[in-house]
Amino acid sequence: MAQLRIDILTLFPGMFSGPFAESIVKRAMDGGLIAVNFHNLRDWGVGRHKVVDDYPFGGGAGMVMKPEPLFEAVAAIRAGSSPSAPVVMLTPQGRVFSQRVAAELAARDQLILVCGHYEGIDERVRERLATDEVSIGDYVLTGGEIAAMVVVDAVARLVPGVLGSDEAAVNDSHSGGLLEHPQYTRPQSYRRWRVPEVLLSGNHAQIAKWRREQSILRTLERRPELLQGAALSGEERAMVSRKLQKKGEQAAISSDDILLGAEAVPRR
Ligand code: ADE
Repeated sequence: MAQLRIDILTLFPGMFSGPFAESIVKRAMDGGLIAVNFHNLRDWGVGRHKVVDDYPFGGGAGMVMKPEPLFEAVAAIRAGSSPSAPVVMLTPQGRVFSQRVAAELAARDQLILVCGHYEGIDERVRERLATDEVSIGDYVLTGGEIAAMVVVDAVARLVPGVLGSDEAAVNDSHSGGLLEHPQYTRPQSYRRWRVPEVLLSGNHAQIAKWRREQSILRTLERRPELLQGAALSGEERAMVSRKLQKKGEQAAISSDDILLGAEAVPRR
């Protein structure tokens, strides 16, 4: 049995055929590590015309997705799997998706993803059916489908066995709260731009040290706010402090915030 079963409720199942027809997610599906099922909400549409949306009470532009198809679809999926399967609604009002949220979802054995469309979804779905709400960022998409694809992709690669050992997720940007170090491949010299000498040295301890340092410096340069949540040693914090002093940097994030340090736990 698959380690993770994902059921996607959507009005546009055809949108998913491209992204999941190739590459790592497809390999994971073919190999039985994850199972992804697509459900067309119209199958649970109301009446002979299979209606899935209606005008908003109180007036206003656009259509609102009706509650019945969503409640019935979730009931049918749960009846055939787990009665307590979590229901994750994709919505710009949800908690913001991150590597931490991806890891949390990857640890479940089933996810029901609900993709909204039109002007929104009847509020009773959010209140009484959804167990979680996720946004992939502070912008508005035309629907939840692309957001669901993003979530499935990021979650699938964290399921044990999905990435080969040579693709391991441990050093990825964001996995330890830091951005990833730079990577190089052959040739050693291209247009006379040389690869950093340390990487050719064969000295694994030196290479690991250089990569860790690059990872920290790159995070400091591009995403300084991430350093607050990263697990840095005292020595590493001292290095950050020296860099900040050198730059005389008193930007949005104070060096105190960084130096006080924080464990890699959610901030409330
Ligand atoms: N639906 C529309 N916009 C969205 C977003 N940013 N995240 C998740 N679902 C969405």
